[in-house]
Amino acid sequence: MNLKELVGLESAKYVKDGMIVGLGTGSTAYYMVKELGRRVKEEGLNIIGVVTSLKTEEHALELGIPLKAIDDVDHVDLVIDGADEISSDFHGIKGGGAALLFEKIVATYSNEVIWIVDESKVVDQLGKFPLPVEVVPFGSENLFRHFQDKGYHPGWRRTENGEILTTDGGHYIIDLNLEVIEDPHALADELDQTVGVVEHGLFLDMIARVIVGTPDGPKTIEVP
Ligand code: A5P
Repeated sequence: MNLKELVGLESAKYVKDGMIVGLGTGSTAYYMVKELGRRVKEEGLNIIGVVTSLKTEEHALELGIPLKAIDDVDHVDLVIDGADEISSDFHGIKGGGAALLFEKIVATYSNEVIWIVDESKVVDQLGKFPLPVEVVPFGSENLFRHFQDKGYHPGWRRTENGEILTTDGGHYIIDLNLEVIEDPHALADELDQTVGVVEHGLFLDMIARVIVGTPDGPKTIEVP
């Protein structure tokens, strides 16, 4: 079993009957969704899923997991999602799969957030992974130049065909190649105040628990 599958299966144990569950996006969350689909089918697990992307929606529907839109529930009990980097003080970068906006919205309305990662995602300091910034197309070339001027080494997120990718929310993504983020909160504040930025991939002070996949098994860390 690979490490992503290991943590996907482990995290599904936190899902109990009657819960409204946020279903994350990506190749790690994939295994959690698959396991929940199995439990719904084989064990009669009674849950409602709230998806964080069209891709996860497609997967969950194939598996027969009952779904509701985020606006049709008044809360989410628990969201389980992957991450691209997680620092030793439990902040993270997300959005490598382009779903950061919906992921952050679902996490915001969730009572609990669990991240599932293989051990390669755990870092001392955030920034090696390019930071995704979701932007409104209108004016985005100016915004790109603004990031260039700031020395953030921006790059457009593109599809396999080389076209600029459009997110599920209809926006573009500019990835910032920062190498090291010295002060994630200051950068998050700056991006929050930048006109044209819809959302960024800094997920700070958000998680209750992280499950790290190691060759010795899943390691669950409760965030203090
Ligand atoms: C999706 O936009 C991302 O935030 C994913 O959760 C993140 O990129 C982790 O993906 P993998 O599990 O595929 O590495």
